[in-house]
Amino acid sequence: MIETFKKDVEEGLSKTSKTLPSKYFYDSIGDQIFIKIMNMPAYYLTRAEHDIFKNQTEKIIQKLKLTPNIFFEIIELGAGDGTKTKLLLKELIRLEYNFKYAPIDISENALKNLKSNLNKEMASLEVSTKQGDYFEVLDNLKQQKAPKVVLFLGSNIGNMSDETAKIFLTKLSNALNKNDKVLLGVDMIKSEHVVLPAYNDKEGLTKSFNMNLLDRINKELEGDFNTHHFEHLATYTQDEGIARSYLVSKKNQEVSINTLDQKFSFIEGEKIHTETSRKYNDAILEHLLEETYLKITDKLMDSNEYFADYILTKI
Ligand code: AVI
Repeated sequence: MIETFKKDVEEGLSKTSKTLPSKYFYDSIGDQIFIKIMNMPAYYLTRAEHDIFKNQTEKIIQKLKLTPNIFFEIIELGAGDGTKTKLLLKELIRLEYNFKYAPIDISENALKNLKSNLNKEMASLEVSTKQGDYFEVLDNLKQQKAPKVVLFLGSNIGNMSDETAKIFLTKLSNALNKNDKVLLGVDMIKSEHVVLPAYNDKEGLTKSFNMNLLDRINKELEGDFNTHHFEHLATYTQDEGIARSYLVSKKNQEVSINTLDQKFSFIEGEKIHTETSRKYNDAILEHLLEETYLKITDKLMDSNEYFADYILTKI
């Protein structure tokens, strides 16, 4: 893990246009900041998807075309604290569906908390957690022959480039059998005045989330980044539908990273691209799904039409 982190940091900071991968936001501090981000009013994504799960639970179940007496598995990629999923699980239990829930997350800690929480709240629910990178875990899914519903919520796919998203969707499709379903939550393209505050909040939470990357490099790779010498920048272009986050150097400076035995120079105004948050519409998603054997069969939206949970069926 640390070796991959080293390699990614070295590669990213050696490029002409510097980058750092957003997956490194999520250490225990980053996880806590992200929970706060999800709870802040400006971060509309959480509430919008929660609205769908709360008000359209029955519709989701109906559209997933599940049969109550046939055993199936619900697999959740990047489960986090499972707040939205619990609404669906509770309804499925109430309706006496026969299923098990398999949350997958990179964070062992998040899985442990989720499992103990679910055991308390839904004692009859069978939960089997799996820790790992979901790209890797996908390889093992195909062996399980029971019908599957894969949940990939929260617009997590939006943090992948379109190229990576296409590879991911192909891999996901390969792990499924005919008629298996995917519930894919994505943030929709909308105007800048709604999107930008979600990534540039007044409280500065997104800024701390972004800066945590530099703190992590300092702690884990013996770097000497001074976070006061960088600022957080968020951009969004509605035409393209992509929000991007950067760390911008406030001055000409040199930063050492001991474990890499390297120094990196920054000129004033130079940017490190740290995150892409893509927004979608039907055409963009359909384009990503071309040749994947996953087809959009339904779409549920919140009352503001900010967010959509698409139901994809393996054909
Ligand atoms: C996890 N992911 C979908 C979030 C997003 O909206 O791109 C991460 C995030 N970055 C800044 N705020 C939240």
